[in-house]
Amino acid sequence: MPASLVTASGSAHAAVLGVGSYRPRRLVPNAEIVDAIDSSDEWIQQRSGIKTRRFAGPDESVQMMSVAAARGALEHAGIDAAQVDAVVVATVSHLMQTPAIAPAIAHELGCDAPVAFDISAACAGFCQGVGVASDMVRSGSARHVLVIGVERLTDILNREDRGTAFIFADGAGAVVVGPSETEGIGPTVWGSDGEQFDYIRQTEDWRDVIAEDSPVMPTLTMQGSAVFRWASFAMSKVGLEAIERAGITVDDLDVFVPHQANMRITDAMARSMKLPATVRIARDVADQGNTSAASVPLALHRMVEEGEARPGDLALLIAFGAGLSYAAQVVRVP
Ligand code: UT7
Repeated sequence: MPASLVTASGSAHAAVLGVGSYRPRRLVPNAEIVDAIDSSDEWIQQRSGIKTRRFAGPDESVQMMSVAAARGALEHAGIDAAQVDAVVVATVSHLMQTPAIAPAIAHELGCDAPVAFDISAACAGFCQGVGVASDMVRSGSARHVLVIGVERLTDILNREDRGTAFIFADGAGAVVVGPSETEGIGPTVWGSDGEQFDYIRQTEDWRDVIAEDSPVMPTLTMQGSAVFRWASFAMSKVGLEAIERAGITVDDLDVFVPHQANMRITDAMARSMKLPATVRIARDVADQGNTSAASVPLALHRMVEEGEARPGDLALLIAFGAGLSYAAQVVRVP
Protein backbone atom coordinates (compact mmCIF):
# COMPACT_ATOMS: atom_id res chain seq x y z
CA MET A 1 0.00 0.00 0.00
CA PRO A 2 1.74 3.25 -1.11
CA ALA A 3 1.82 5.99 1.54
CA SER A 4 -0.82 8.66 0.97
CA LEU A 5 0.00 12.34 1.11
CA VAL A 6 -1.77 14.92 3.19
CA THR A 7 -3.83 17.51 1.28
CA ALA A 8 -2.84 21.10 2.07
CA SER A 9 -5.66 23.23 3.41
CA GLY A 10 -5.85 26.78 4.64
CA SER A 11 -8.49 29.35 5.44
CA ALA A 12 -11.87 28.95 3.75
CA HIS A 13 -11.78 32.63 2.83
CA ALA A 14 -9.15 35.30 2.10
CA ALA A 15 -9.34 39.08 2.26
CA VAL A 16 -7.30 42.22 1.80
CA LEU A 17 -6.55 43.21 5.40
CA GLY A 18 -4.66 46.45 4.83
CA VAL A 19 -3.27 48.77 2.16
CA GLY A 20 -0.35 51.20 2.06
CA SER A 21 1.65 53.20 -0.46
CA TYR A 22 4.71 55.35 -1.04
CA ARG A 23 4.78 58.33 -3.41
CA PRO A 24 8.19 59.76 -4.36
CA ARG A 25 8.76 63.30 -3.12
CA ARG A 26 9.41 65.01 -6.46
CA LEU A 27 6.33 66.16 -8.36
CA VAL A 28 7.00 66.61 -12.08
CA PRO A 29 4.47 68.69 -14.06
CA ASN A 30 3.97 68.26 -17.80
CA ALA A 31 5.86 71.51 -18.33
CA GLU A 32 9.07 69.73 -17.32
CA ILE A 33 8.55 66.92 -19.85
CA VAL A 34 7.29 68.64 -22.98
CA ASP A 35 10.42 70.25 -24.49
CA ALA A 36 12.34 66.97 -24.85
CA ILE A 37 9.43 65.34 -26.74
CA ASP A 38 8.09 68.32 -28.70
CA SER A 39 4.73 68.08 -26.92
CA SER A 40 2.46 70.32 -24.86
CA ASP A 41 0.68 70.26 -21.52
CA GLU A 42 -2.61 70.48 -23.43
CA TRP A 43 -1.83 67.45 -25.66
CA ILE A 44 -0.72 65.29 -22.74
CA GLN A 45 -3.78 66.14 -20.65
CA GLN A 46 -6.14 65.61 -23.57
CA ARG A 47 -4.66 62.25 -24.65
CA SER A 48 -3.85 60.76 -21.25
CA GLY A 49 -5.39 62.85 -18.46
CA ILE A 50 -1.95 63.22 -16.86
CA LYS A 51 -1.11 66.59 -15.27
CA THR A 52 1.81 65.64 -13.05
CA ARG A 53 3.71 62.52 -12.07
CA ARG A 54 6.31 61.65 -9.44
CA PHE A 55 9.92 60.75 -10.17
CA ALA A 56 12.00 58.99 -7.52
CA GLY A 57 15.18 60.59 -6.18
CA PRO A 58 18.45 58.68 -5.69
CA ASP A 59 17.49 57.51 -2.19
CA GLU A 60 14.01 56.38 -3.26
CA SER A 61 15.06 52.94 -4.46
CA VAL A 62 12.76 50.03 -5.35
CA GLN A 63 13.55 48.51 -1.96
CA MET A 64 13.10 51.74 0.01
CA MET A 65 9.71 52.54 -1.60
CA SER A 66 8.54 48.93 -1.15
CA VAL A 67 9.44 48.84 2.53
CA ALA A 68 7.64 52.13 3.16
CA ALA A 69 4.47 50.98 1.35
CA ALA A 70 4.57 47.57 3.06
CA ARG A 71 4.94 49.13 6.53
CA GLY A 72 1.83 51.23 5.84
CA ALA A 73 -0.14 48.15 4.73
CA LEU A 74 0.99 46.15 7.79
CA GLU A 75 0.01 48.96 10.12
CA HIS A 76 -3.40 49.32 8.45
CA ALA A 77 -3.93 45.55 8.75
CA GLY A 78 -2.74 45.45 12.36
CA ILE A 79 -0.27 42.70 11.42
CA ASP A 80 3.33 42.47 12.60
CA ALA A 81 6.05 41.80 10.00
CA ALA A 82 6.93 38.61 11.91
CA GLN A 83 3.45 37.24 11.09
CA VAL A 84 4.05 37.55 7.34
CA ASP A 85 5.02 34.23 5.80
CA ALA A 86 5.06 35.24 2.12
CA VAL A 87 6.27 38.36 0.29
CA VAL A 88 5.31 38.73 -3.38
CA VAL A 89 6.78 41.70 -5.25
CA ALA A 90 5.43 42.73 -8.65
CA THR A 91 7.96 44.84 -10.55
CA VAL A 92 9.85 45.21 -13.83
CA SER A 93 12.27 47.86 -12.60
CA HIS A 94 14.41 45.98 -10.07
CA LEU A 95 17.43 46.09 -12.34
CA MET A 96 19.14 42.89 -11.24
CA GLN A 97 18.56 39.72 -13.23
CA THR A 98 19.01 37.80 -10.00
CA PRO A 99 18.34 37.59 -7.09
CA ALA A 100 14.76 38.79 -6.81
CA ILE A 101 14.23 41.89 -4.65
CA ALA A 102 11.52 40.25 -2.49
CA PRO A 103 13.88 38.48 -0.01
CA ALA A 104 15.78 41.74 0.64
CA ILE A 105 12.52 43.63 1.24
CA ALA A 106 11.26 40.87 3.56
CA HIS A 107 14.54 40.94 5.48
CA GLU A 108 14.46 44.72 5.94
CA LEU A 109 10.85 44.51 7.13
CA GLY A 110 11.81 41.90 9.73
CA CYS A 111 9.76 39.00 8.37
CA ASP A 112 10.79 35.58 9.66
CA ALA A 113 12.14 33.49 6.73
CA PRO A 114 9.10 33.96 4.49
CA VAL A 115 8.84 32.59 0.97
CA ALA A 116 9.70 35.68 -1.10
CA PHE A 117 9.67 36.04 -4.86
CA ASP A 118 9.10 38.56 -7.66
CA ILE A 119 6.43 38.52 -10.34
CA SER A 120 7.40 39.92 -13.73
CA ALA A 121 4.08 40.80 -15.32
CA ALA A 122 4.56 44.56 -15.69
CA CYS A 123 1.34 46.51 -15.14
CA ALA A 124 -0.67 43.30 -14.54
CA GLY A 125 1.71 42.14 -11.80
CA PHE A 126 -0.07 43.53 -8.74
CA CYS A 127 -3.48 41.97 -9.49
CA GLN A 128 -1.74 38.72 -10.46
CA GLY A 129 -0.01 38.91 -7.06
CA VAL A 130 -3.34 39.33 -5.27
CA GLY A 131 -4.62 36.26 -7.17
CA VAL A 132 -1.57 34.22 -6.14
CA ALA A 133 -1.76 35.47 -2.54
CA SER A 134 -5.45 34.64 -2.06
CA ASP A 135 -4.84 31.14 -3.47
CA MET A 136 -1.90 30.70 -1.07
CA VAL A 137 -4.02 31.70 1.93
CA ARG A 138 -6.85 29.36 0.91
CA SER A 139 -4.54 26.45 0.13
CA GLY A 140 -2.65 26.80 3.40
CA SER A 141 0.76 27.53 1.86
CA ALA A 142 0.81 30.92 3.64
CA ARG A 143 -1.30 32.69 6.26
CA HIS A 144 -0.37 36.33 5.73
CA VAL A 145 0.98 37.46 2.36
CA LEU A 146 2.40 40.88 1.58
CA VAL A 147 1.77 41.81 -2.05
CA ILE A 148 3.82 44.79 -3.21
CA GLY A 149 3.63 46.59 -6.57
CA VAL A 150 6.66 48.84 -7.09
CA GLU A 151 8.32 50.63 -10.00
CA ARG A 152 11.19 53.04 -10.63
CA LEU A 153 10.40 53.31 -14.31
CA THR A 154 12.47 56.48 -14.70
CA ASP A 155 15.56 54.23 -14.64
CA ILE A 156 14.42 52.65 -17.92
CA LEU A 157 12.63 55.62 -19.46
CA ASN A 158 13.84 57.34 -22.62
CA ARG A 159 13.13 60.99 -21.78
CA GLU A 160 13.06 61.77 -25.52
CA ASP A 161 10.56 59.09 -26.54
CA ARG A 162 7.27 60.79 -27.42
CA GLY A 163 5.29 57.60 -26.82
CA THR A 164 6.40 56.89 -23.24
CA ALA A 165 8.26 59.83 -21.62
CA PHE A 166 5.09 61.60 -20.44
CA ILE A 167 3.29 58.47 -19.22
CA PHE A 168 5.51 56.42 -16.95
CA ALA A 169 6.49 57.25 -13.36
CA ASP A 170 7.62 55.86 -10.01
CA GLY A 171 6.02 54.68 -6.75
CA ALA A 172 4.97 51.72 -4.61
CA GLY A 173 1.81 50.26 -3.14
CA ALA A 174 1.16 47.20 -0.99
CA VAL A 175 -1.58 45.11 0.55
CA VAL A 176 -1.69 42.40 3.19
CA VAL A 177 -3.75 39.37 2.16
CA GLY A 178 -4.79 37.01 4.93
CA PRO A 179 -7.49 34.72 6.31
CA SER A 180 -11.04 35.97 6.77
CA GLU A 181 -14.34 34.68 8.15
CA THR A 182 -16.21 35.80 5.06
CA GLU A 183 -15.02 36.02 1.47
CA GLY A 184 -13.04 39.18 0.75
CA ILE A 185 -11.47 38.36 -2.62
CA GLY A 186 -13.52 37.08 -5.53
CA PRO A 187 -12.12 34.69 -8.15
CA THR A 188 -9.26 36.18 -10.17
CA VAL A 189 -9.85 36.37 -13.92
CA TRP A 190 -6.43 36.42 -15.54
CA GLY A 191 -4.61 35.55 -18.72
CA SER A 192 -2.28 36.71 -21.45
CA ASP A 193 -2.11 37.24 -25.20
CA GLY A 194 1.41 36.34 -26.34
CA GLU A 195 0.55 37.19 -29.94
CA GLN A 196 0.96 40.81 -28.80
CA PHE A 197 4.19 40.03 -26.92
CA ASP A 198 6.08 42.86 -28.63
CA TYR A 199 3.67 45.71 -27.92
CA ILE A 200 5.34 46.91 -24.70
CA ARG A 201 8.93 45.83 -24.23
CA GLN A 202 12.56 46.62 -23.48
CA THR A 203 14.15 48.11 -26.60
CA GLU A 204 16.94 45.52 -26.81
CA ASP A 205 17.98 42.11 -25.51
CA TRP A 206 20.81 42.42 -22.93
CA ARG A 207 23.08 40.23 -25.08
CA ASP A 208 22.74 42.64 -28.01
CA VAL A 209 23.37 45.60 -25.69
CA ILE A 210 26.65 44.25 -24.29
CA ALA A 211 27.86 43.28 -27.77
CA GLU A 212 27.85 46.96 -28.75
CA ASP A 213 31.05 49.06 -28.71
CA SER A 214 29.40 51.72 -26.54
CA PRO A 215 26.58 49.95 -24.73
CA VAL A 216 23.54 52.09 -23.98
CA MET A 217 20.99 51.19 -21.31
CA PRO A 218 17.85 49.74 -22.98
CA THR A 219 14.59 51.57 -22.33
CA LEU A 220 10.85 50.97 -22.51
CA THR A 221 9.06 51.14 -25.84
CA MET A 222 5.33 50.81 -26.49
CA GLN A 223 2.97 50.60 -29.46
CA GLY A 224 0.63 53.00 -27.67
CA SER A 225 -2.35 53.02 -30.02
CA ALA A 226 -2.50 49.22 -30.33
CA VAL A 227 -2.29 48.81 -26.54
CA PHE A 228 -4.90 51.54 -26.12
CA ARG A 229 -7.36 49.70 -28.40
CA TRP A 230 -6.74 46.33 -26.68
CA ALA A 231 -7.10 47.81 -23.20
CA SER A 232 -10.26 49.79 -23.99
CA PHE A 233 -12.14 46.86 -25.56
CA ALA A 234 -10.81 43.55 -24.24
CA MET A 235 -10.31 44.64 -20.63
CA SER A 236 -13.91 45.67 -20.00
CA LYS A 237 -14.93 42.07 -20.81
CA VAL A 238 -12.37 40.82 -18.28
CA GLY A 239 -13.74 43.26 -15.68
CA LEU A 240 -17.32 42.11 -16.28
CA GLU A 241 -16.23 38.47 -15.99
CA ALA A 242 -14.56 39.18 -12.63
CA ILE A 243 -17.81 40.80 -11.42
CA GLU A 244 -19.90 37.86 -12.61
CA ARG A 245 -17.53 35.27 -11.14
CA ALA A 246 -17.64 37.08 -7.79
CA GLY A 247 -21.39 36.46 -7.80
CA ILE A 248 -22.38 40.13 -7.95
CA THR A 249 -23.55 42.63 -10.58
CA VAL A 250 -22.30 46.09 -11.52
CA ASP A 251 -25.07 47.48 -9.30
CA ASP A 252 -23.40 45.94 -6.23
CA LEU A 253 -20.08 47.60 -7.00
CA ASP A 254 -18.99 50.65 -4.96
CA VAL A 255 -15.53 51.34 -6.34
CA PHE A 256 -13.61 50.80 -9.61
CA VAL A 257 -9.81 50.77 -9.43
CA PRO A 258 -8.39 50.07 -12.89
CA HIS A 259 -4.68 50.17 -13.73
CA GLN A 260 -3.88 53.88 -14.02
CA ALA A 261 -2.70 53.76 -17.65
CA ASN A 262 -4.65 56.57 -19.26
CA MET A 263 -7.80 58.44 -18.15
CA ARG A 264 -9.38 57.77 -21.56
CA ILE A 265 -8.96 53.99 -21.09
CA THR A 266 -10.56 54.24 -17.62
CA ASP A 267 -13.51 56.18 -19.07
CA ALA A 268 -13.90 53.77 -22.01
CA MET A 269 -13.94 50.78 -19.66
CA ALA A 270 -16.46 52.37 -17.29
CA ARG A 271 -18.73 53.17 -20.26
CA SER A 272 -18.50 49.79 -21.85
CA MET A 273 -19.06 47.95 -18.53
CA LYS A 274 -22.06 50.28 -17.98
CA LEU A 275 -20.96 51.07 -14.43
CA PRO A 276 -23.69 52.97 -12.55
CA ALA A 277 -22.92 56.63 -11.82
CA THR A 278 -22.75 55.73 -8.11
CA VAL A 279 -19.53 53.73 -8.61
CA ARG A 280 -16.54 55.80 -7.48
CA ILE A 281 -13.69 55.60 -9.98
CA ALA A 282 -9.95 55.88 -9.24
CA ARG A 283 -8.37 58.75 -11.18
CA ASP A 284 -4.92 58.82 -9.62
CA VAL A 285 -3.24 58.84 -13.06
CA ALA A 286 -3.84 62.60 -13.28
CA ASP A 287 -1.36 63.29 -10.47
CA GLN A 288 0.76 60.17 -10.37
CA GLY A 289 1.19 59.11 -14.03
CA ASN A 290 1.34 55.42 -14.96
CA THR A 291 3.34 53.52 -12.34
CA SER A 292 2.81 50.07 -13.89
CA ALA A 293 2.68 47.42 -11.10
CA ALA A 294 2.29 50.10 -8.41
CA SER A 295 -0.68 51.91 -9.92
CA VAL A 296 -3.60 49.86 -8.54
CA PRO A 297 -2.51 49.78 -4.87
CA LEU A 298 -1.46 53.46 -5.05
CA ALA A 299 -4.90 54.41 -6.39
CA LEU A 300 -6.75 52.16 -3.94
CA HIS A 301 -4.82 53.53 -0.97
CA ARG A 302 -5.55 57.10 -2.03
CA MET A 303 -9.28 56.34 -2.24
CA VAL A 304 -9.18 54.75 1.23
CA GLU A 305 -7.30 57.75 2.68
CA GLU A 306 -9.69 60.23 1.06
CA GLY A 307 -12.78 58.28 2.21
CA GLU A 308 -13.87 57.47 -1.35
CA ALA A 309 -13.41 53.74 -0.67
CA ARG A 310 -14.82 52.74 2.71
CA PRO A 311 -14.31 49.58 4.75
CA GLY A 312 -16.61 46.87 3.42
CA ASP A 313 -17.08 48.47 -0.01
CA LEU A 314 -16.84 46.19 -3.04
CA ALA A 315 -14.06 47.25 -5.41
CA LEU A 316 -13.26 45.92 -8.86
CA LEU A 317 -9.47 45.85 -9.38
CA ILE A 318 -8.12 45.30 -12.89
CA ALA A 319 -4.58 45.55 -14.21
CA PHE A 320 -3.20 45.05 -17.72
CA GLY A 321 -0.06 45.64 -19.73
CA ALA A 322 3.10 44.11 -21.21
CA GLY A 323 2.85 40.48 -22.22
CA LEU A 324 0.17 41.35 -23.02
CA SER A 325 -1.05 40.20 -19.58
CA TYR A 326 -4.01 40.97 -17.36
CA ALA A 327 -5.71 40.11 -14.06
CA ALA A 328 -8.88 41.29 -12.31
CA GLN A 329 -10.78 40.51 -9.12
CA VAL A 330 -13.46 42.03 -6.90
CA VAL A 331 -12.22 42.72 -3.36
CA ARG A 332 -13.79 44.01 -0.18
CA VAL A 333 -12.08 47.27 0.84
CA PRO A 334 -10.26 46.92 4.20
O1 UT7 B 1 0.61 50.61 -18.72
C1 UT7 B 1 0.63 49.63 -19.69
C2 UT7 B 1 -0.48 49.78 -20.63
N1 UT7 B 1 -0.32 51.00 -21.34
C3 UT7 B 1 -1.36 51.65 -21.83
O2 UT7 B 1 -2.47 51.23 -21.61
C4 UT7 B 1 -1.11 52.88 -22.67
C5 UT7 B 1 -1.97 52.82 -23.88
N2 UT7 B 1 -1.77 53.88 -24.85
C6 UT7 B 1 -2.03 55.19 -24.64
O3 UT7 B 1 -2.34 55.58 -23.53
C7 UT7 B 1 -1.99 56.15 -25.81
O4 UT7 B 1 -1.77 55.39 -26.97
C8 UT7 B 1 -0.95 57.29 -25.72
C9 UT7 B 1 -1.37 58.24 -24.62
C10 UT7 B 1 0.41 56.69 -25.42
C11 UT7 B 1 -0.86 58.05 -27.03
O5 UT7 B 1 -2.14 58.57 -27.37
P1 UT7 B 1 -2.75 58.28 -28.80
O6 UT7 B 1 -4.03 59.01 -28.84
O7 UT7 B 1 -2.79 56.79 -29.02
O8 UT7 B 1 -1.70 58.99 -29.77
P2 UT7 B 1 -1.07 58.44 -31.12
O9 UT7 B 1 0.17 57.68 -30.82
O10 UT7 B 1 -2.12 57.76 -31.94
O11 UT7 B 1 -0.68 59.78 -31.85
C12 UT7 B 1 -1.68 60.74 -32.28
C13 UT7 B 1 -1.00 61.97 -32.82
C14 UT7 B 1 0.04 61.70 -33.90
O12 UT7 B 1 0.00 62.77 -34.80
P3 UT7 B 1 -0.82 62.68 -36.20
O13 UT7 B 1 -0.25 61.50 -36.93
O14 UT7 B 1 -2.25 62.46 -35.79
O15 UT7 B 1 -0.56 64.01 -36.83
C15 UT7 B 1 1.36 61.71 -33.16
O16 UT7 B 1 2.43 62.08 -33.98
O17 UT7 B 1 -0.28 62.63 -31.77
C16 UT7 B 1 1.12 62.76 -32.12
N3 UT7 B 1 1.88 62.51 -30.92
C17 UT7 B 1 2.21 63.47 -30.03
N4 UT7 B 1 1.97 64.80 -30.03
C18 UT7 B 1 2.41 65.50 -28.95
C19 UT7 B 1 2.36 61.33 -30.45
N5 UT7 B 1 2.97 61.50 -29.28
C20 UT7 B 1 2.90 62.82 -29.00
C21 UT7 B 1 3.35 63.60 -27.92
N6 UT7 B 1 3.08 64.93 -27.94
N7 UT7 B 1 4.00 63.07 -26.87
